[in-house]
Amino acid sequence: MAINIILLGPPGAGKGTQARRLEEGRGLVQLSTGDMLRAARSSGTEMGKRVAEVMDKGQLVTDEIVIGLIREKLEGGDAAGFIFDGFPRTLPQADALGKLMEGMGRKIDAVIEMRVDDEALVARITGRYTCGNCGEVYHDDTKPTKVAGVCDVCGSTDLRRRADDNEESLKTRLLEYYKKTSPLIGYYYALHMLSTVDGLAEMDEVSAAITAVLDKRASNS
Ligand code: AP5
Repeated sequence: MAINIILLGPPGAGKGTQARRLEEGRGLVQLSTGDMLRAARSSGTEMGKRVAEVMDKGQLVTDEIVIGLIREKLEGGDAAGFIFDGFPRTLPQADALGKLMEGMGRKIDAVIEMRVDDEALVARITGRYTCGNCGEVYHDDTKPTKVAGVCDVCGSTDLRRRADDNEESLKTRLLEYYKKTSPLIGYYYALHMLSTVDGLAEMDEVSAAITAVLDKRASNS
């Protein structure tokens, strides 16, 4: 079924983890602005270098850059539906997304807030690593690879930790979230689009809660 979803939550809330599950389960396309920006920084262009500096400090990249990246993906993509992971993150980004979707004759069907307390986020962020080949997300304690140093999904040994996954950057990332992104909770609540799930629950329980939200939205539409 065609459905467009926004996953909203602080760094480490589990947006990427759940987006990958939704992609597999429902044939949707994950649009992660974090992944797009990491691709831009590894391109070594002037823009990529500027982006890298901002990301490593834990600050937000300009609205102009991220809206441009999303526009490009939406215009070039022909998916049944999209999962917006880490976008929008500011009110201007939310307005821009609404207009882009409207222009394509689509709409956002659900905004899912994943609520997690700050203490859990520190543990999640500092223990995270990712497969550089297929993007699978792991954690030292809660989701280690079955064989040390080898990705369960694709067998790659290119397992990486992110430059901004340290306590110092996380402080700024959280501040940016509460200052600039959390107002979106009220924004989407007022539009009757918001649902909240407990992001502190086990991964499978979070997936089940998201499925319940999507089923309820589908039966009401
Ligand atoms: P981005 O890449 O979007 O990072 P983020 O929002 O900080 O989110 P994370 O990827 O850190 O966490 P997540 O919620 O996806 O959690 P995950 O599933 O990995 O952004 C990075 C930077 O790019 C920003 O700081 C900014 O500079 C820039 N940027 C990106 N988008 C932007 C935008 N729109 N505007 C401006 N700037 C932008 O899970 C985390 C860990 O926890 C993993 O190890 C996982 O295994 C584990 N875990 C997940 N779920 C559970 C669970 N239920 N129980 C136990 N462990 C769990």
